[in-house]
Amino acid sequence: AQYQTTAYRASILHFVDDPAVSQTPYEYYEDGVLVVGTDGKVKAVGPANTVLNNYPYIQVVDYSGKILMPGFIDSHVHYPQTEMIASFGEQLLDWLNTYTFPTEQQFSNKTYAKSVAKTFINELVRNGTTTALVFGTVSPNSVDALFEEAQTRNMRLIAGKVMMDRNAPDYLLDTPASSYTDSKALIQKWHKNGRALYAVTPRFAPTSTPEQLAKAGQLLREFPDVYMHTHLSENKAEIAWVQSLFPSSTGYLDVYNSFGLSRNRSVYAHGVHLRDDEFQSLAQTGAAIAFCPTSNMFLGSGLFNLQKAEQYGVKVGLGTDVGAGTSFNALQTMNEAYKMTQLRKAFVDDPSTVNPLKAIKAYYLATLGAARALSLENQVGSFKIGNEADFVVINPNATDLLKFRMQKTNTIEDKLFVLQMLGDDRAIQNTYVMGKKQTVNGYGSGYYQYT
Ligand code: GUN
Ligand code: FE
Repeated sequence: AQYQTTAYRASILHFVDDPAVSQTPYEYYEDGVLVVGTDGKVKAVGPANTVLNNYPYIQVVDYSGKILMPGFIDSHVHYPQTEMIASFGEQLLDWLNTYTFPTEQQFSNKTYAKSVAKTFINELVRNGTTTALVFGTVSPNSVDALFEEAQTRNMRLIAGKVMMDRNAPDYLLDTPASSYTDSKALIQKWHKNGRALYAVTPRFAPTSTPEQLAKAGQLLREFPDVYMHTHLSENKAEIAWVQSLFPSSTGYLDVYNSFGLSRNRSVYAHGVHLRDDEFQSLAQTGAAIAFCPTSNMFLGSGLFNLQKAEQYGVKVGLGTDVGAGTSFNALQTMNEAYKMTQLRKAFVDDPSTVNPLKAIKAYYLATLGAARALSLENQVGSFKIGNEADFVVINPNATDLLKFRMQKTNTIEDKLFVLQMLGDDRAIQNTYVMGKKQTVNGYGSGYYQYT
């Protein structure tokens, strides 16, 4: 028979709203079906019996016993730093000088950039991540290499060339004029080319002159639907440095705001040390925060206040921030997010005011929450009809310990929490992009399929 569409049968979970504002933030079908059209988009989702009645001749791929959910979205990651993940001993500013800048120098070589881009995209796939907002380097070659590699899998990826014209080694500097011209050419080449999207990417306030930040603002005015991607308020020494470089600003976020960089599709990594008025400003402008727990703890940056972001209605997505982050894996990132909220209790006056991160919120932040932070809610992050069918098949019994522990769980929320604490790439059985099963070196995504 000629099949029009494919049905995936599994325990299906996806979000319809933020657990912070809705009593029914997710849909869960213990025996569910996801129907994907030949166009790679979601046609239906629901209980297996009901949905399959409507598609009597459909091809069914059976993932019974597995959990199928939207592919994870990484709201902030540096692909050139893949090779320097887990570099010892420094906090942000020394870490940049010691490890990051020398590493990023290599990416003016397109062949080199391509090989790292391939490894990076493979890691995303192996970890069930189907969309990411990605830093390149200052070299336009780095961005071409990444988008070319992403295109071989038709991935929805957002990326940009770093703009950086001071306070870094000469070999990594551009100028306000060249960063404008190079970024513009990349926008014209890649933005909305297939599923690719472009992000204007000033590295962070200390490495751009006011003239360059003005150019970034100009690009956003000329191309209103591109992204803006940078770092904000990550580390205390960094914040003090920003104040000395921009003495007339009222704070770190004010520097970006004064160049028109905050609006929807603006994403600020970290925001660990934001003031209340800065949270309020983010909510008002529509800019989002990428919450990067493994990085914040690895670099000793601090403990992000997720509850405050919720109170002010600031959009938040989960990010890995590799190579300051220590894992590409969303489950492991959620694991550390949970521990961060626990640890916050040790540092506040009244511990009872801090609520440990619930599993359901963590998975939201890695899927629909991140999609909303990236203004991609109508493309990815949930199984809304018509969305692009990027999804991950998770094996909740992937390791001996997971299997043993899962026997003692009852609800799906219990299972998700155990998976978040004990799961890693071994639990990622398969990753699908636009309804297409992905392989890495000829294998499916999961670790056990290599062995
Ligand atoms: N701030 C400026 N550049 C970087 C970077 O590469 N990583 C992190 N974590 N913070 C930054
Ligand atoms: Fe970063």
